[in-house]
Amino acid sequence: MQREKFRSSRTAQFTESVIREMTRLAIPAGAVNLAQGFPDFPAPAQLKQAAIEAITADHNQYPITWGIKPLRQAIAQKYQQHYGLTIDPEREVTVVCGSTEGMVATLLATVNDGDEVITFEPYYENYHPDLLLCGATRKLITLHAPDWTFDREEMRRAFSKKTKAVIINTPNNPTGRVFSREDLEFIAALCQEYDALCITDEIYEHIIYDGAVHVPVMTIPGMRERAVIVNSMSKSYSVTGWRVGWVIAAPDLTDSIRKVHDFLTVGAATPLQHAGVLAMNQPDTFYKDLAEHYVGRRDKLLGLLSAAGFQCFKPAGAYYIMTDISQFGFPDDTTFVKHLINEIGVAAVPGSSFFSGNGKGSQIVRFCFCKKYETLEDAGHRLRKLTQA
Ligand SMILES: Cc1ncc(COP(=O)(O)O)c(C=O)c1O
Repeated sequence: MQREKFRSSRTAQFTESVIREMTRLAIPAGAVNLAQGFPDFPAPAQLKQAAIEAITADHNQYPITWGIKPLRQAIAQKYQQHYGLTIDPEREVTVVCGSTEGMVATLLATVNDGDEVITFEPYYENYHPDLLLCGATRKLITLHAPDWTFDREEMRRAFSKKTKAVIINTPNNPTGRVFSREDLEFIAALCQEYDALCITDEIYEHIIYDGAVHVPVMTIPGMRERAVIVNSMSKSYSVTGWRVGWVIAAPDLTDSIRKVHDFLTVGAATPLQHAGVLAMNQPDTFYKDLAEHYVGRRDKLLGLLSAAGFQCFKPAGAYYIMTDISQFGFPDDTTFVKHLINEIGVAAVPGSSFFSGNGKGSQIVRFCFCKKYETLEDAGHRLRKLTQA
């Protein structure tokens, strides 16, 4: 049997997720996991109760493929309240299995082989395989440390007649950058000039600090029909394992996205969609508390990492800290992170996994702080060994 024959050329082009690999390495090593972005504290009690009640009430069969109506209505209402966006829940919302599915379903629905898609580097690692799976040609725009800003001329040059879409993740993983309205307006103008879509991953919309403001590109004049919002319950409601997300797009785009979604997954878990209605109906104070909850953890981890000798880039949003590790004298980020996991007892993500190769990111490591204070303190305590060694 020729095993190679059974590996499609699509899958041969990418490796397993480095972030999820770090989680697997952390478990047998007993390392504190500051790699993968999931909370180690409980989800909100009333949300868990709503899920239990939905199962007891026998909401246990296939949902309507694009999402139960009460959830689509609650999503539309939330965008009206928060951003003044009027969304038609019947024709413009697709409930999906997390942003992960939302992004890949959107790209499969809109991008053809050879179309160009612009995105930023460093990037959330899923975008690379997503683009390979739909045959897109990726064009990368650099986000420059320490503020992770981009060069407008470079962005303008990246656009061409072949540009199908731009992917923007704001607030940004891994850099913590919150894109300014001016930057988004600049990109939006190019999307209009070149007739391109703007797909925005807004999963950290409520996790913002120091007065930063999240602007959905869809609210920018001229972008209502051209922007696609990808989002989920994972981060705002601390339920990354529930796998409930949504895509908001103009009706013609939604038609295609729903087709892909239907045949990929049929639907997100029905009882968890019912609980999602309660999540969408949370008052503003819920999101204020969420941001406060995380700003304290951000400052805590910034202090612990600095004390352990890391040079930190302070994030304005999301729940990750990028660090420069050059002062530790390791040849590369992967060697450093393996040392961290096995000898120090803390897992993090090698920076190179957010870059396209050529040694980029090889002196960068990302830590997440969506953890209990005692977990962060335990990690901080262990990290002190780095300078003592
Ligand atoms: C930028 C970004 N998008 C998408 C995801 C995945 O989200 P979901 O759990 O909704 O699939 C993550 C998870 O870390 C993320 O950081």
